[in-house]
Amino acid sequence: MPAVKVPRRDAEPVKRKLKKLGLYDGKRRPRREDEYVLLPVISDPRIEGLGYEVLSVELPLRPERQIYKNLESVLAERLSREELKYLRRYDVIGDIAVIQIPPELEHRIEDIVWGLRKVHPFLKVIARKGFHEGAFRIRDYSIIWGEKRLETVHKENGVRIKVDLSKAFFNPRMKGERYRLAQLIHDGERVLIPFAGVLPYALVIARYKRVKITAIELNREAYELGLENIELNGGKLKGEIEFIHGDVFEVLPELPSHDRVISPTPRGVDALALTLSKTERWLHYYDFVHEGEIERFRARILEECRKLGRDCTVRVKKVSDFKPHVFKVCADVEIKGE
Ligand SMILES: C[S@@+](CC[C@H](N)C(=O)[O-])C[C@H]1O[C@@H](n2cnc3c(N)ncnc32)[C@H](O)[C@@H]1O
Repeated sequence: MPAVKVPRRDAEPVKRKLKKLGLYDGKRRPRREDEYVLLPVISDPRIEGLGYEVLSVELPLRPERQIYKNLESVLAERLSREELKYLRRYDVIGDIAVIQIPPELEHRIEDIVWGLRKVHPFLKVIARKGFHEGAFRIRDYSIIWGEKRLETVHKENGVRIKVDLSKAFFNPRMKGERYRLAQLIHDGERVLIPFAGVLPYALVIARYKRVKITAIELNREAYELGLENIELNGGKLKGEIEFIHGDVFEVLPELPSHDRVISPTPRGVDALALTLSKTERWLHYYDFVHEGEIERFRARILEECRKLGRDCTVRVKKVSDFKPHVFKVCADVEIKGE
């Protein structure tokens, strides 16, 4: 069976690319060989065109329980087609699964728990998720199966992130965004991260790049988890993280400007003018915008740049859907030289 041979440091991005193209063979395990990794791929003529070394090797099949199955196909055994339509996306954070259960599936909770455990046999907790509440964006959860805790260690992009969903915000779906930013950043940059939470962005960036990061968070419990996370990943981080407990609107005005600012802005908070005023070169500003308002959002950023007398280019990228027609977006703002 075919496999592509790639240097170890490229294995993760190449695997992502192969998955995106539908060429990765998830039924077999990859294998490490010295400084290389052999990634299993399906037989497809497109592989040759990708420019990787292709080998024919016997990579072992994953045990059946590890093969990715989706919840919907597993639950098709127990739920009607009508009921399946109400099934929502869920997240796995460390050994905790969190799922939203609409009223239409209230009577199916036991089946959903059964299905999730079948798809993810390592789970220790299954929680039902409510909505984000308050300034700290903490969700309201109720545990519907397993151990009575919402604390776990989540692995992502080569770092370990201790989270406690009852105390601090964490969104595993931003994994790709964090990786994207880590790739954009250059060694030597000074990076400012307001609204830093338990430090997922800072850790992933410091894992890959030799940079100096200053992060700010107001929620005391998120701040303490963040400090633990710096310790937890200590040996692996190339960059340095300074973590400040405080209110962004009080702390930022006292700080110097930084090469790059990353603002995972909480919904409903406007920190655009403040973060832009602390940016020397690049700002990545997250916000929630209706699809019909994206151009206006872009124009607003350009107007803020103009007010500061800076020449900017702005690219707005949809990051995830939030509710019908409303997206979480990231504005990548580049400030041109003086
Ligand atoms: C959307 S969450 C993002 C957290 C983190 N960056 C992440 O992606 O997991 C926003 C964070 O900002 C924090 N926050 C809200 N208002 C703040 C303020 N005025 N100053 C500092 N942090 C604040 C919240 O506690 C929360 O952790």
